[in-house]
Amino acid sequence: MKNIVILISGSGSNMAAIVHAAARERWAQRFGARVAAVISNKAGAPGLALAQAQGIATAVIPHQDFATREAFDAALADAVDAHAPALVVLAGFMRILTPGFVARYEGRLINIHPSLLPAFPGLHTHRRAIEAGCRVAGVTVHQVTVELDHGPILAQAVVPVLPDDTPETLSARVLAQEHRVYPQAIADWLYETK
Ligand code: GRF
Repeated sequence: MKNIVILISGSGSNMAAIVHAAARERWAQRFGARVAAVISNKAGAPGLALAQAQGIATAVIPHQDFATREAFDAALADAVDAHAPALVVLAGFMRILTPGFVARYEGRLINIHPSLLPAFPGLHTHRRAIEAGCRVAGVTVHQVTVELDHGPILAQAVVPVLPDDTPETLSARVLAQEHRVYPQAIADWLYETK
């Protein structure tokens, strides 16, 4: 069985979309793959309860318990490796990973970013897209490399920026596409590596 490990920090709506797609699209039968674990750096992350309700193993590695980024990433890698992952999925995981962590999972570590990369890496993507006068915005699924929000692009989706958009309304429109594109990109990856 190919194990997928998902890392979250917050609401986990992308994680939920992936878990639901895995069940609905029968990833276990089609690709021999399953979501084996959900790991959060925040104890209260609402996504953890949802994962538990689905019978998925969960773990919390609180980043503030570690003196350095390297120490946190080493503990995180131990928790991830406990599930022997074929694929590690960052889904709203709000920590910058060390080069050592990224290298360890090279080629099997992916992220979703709420902009049309290479435009607007980093935070506040929706406000920045509106302020720049963009007529379209969107979402990117990409392989993770050492440079933040870079790496080979696996999938993108475009949404319009409407004249009266706020960061919140634009974010909601993009998030709806995230929930479609991320599971699809993972299913494509599973198909290609079958
Ligand atoms: C998403 O917009 C994702 O693209 C960004 O953080 C948000 C996470 O949302 N990196 P959720 O936790 O999946 O609901």
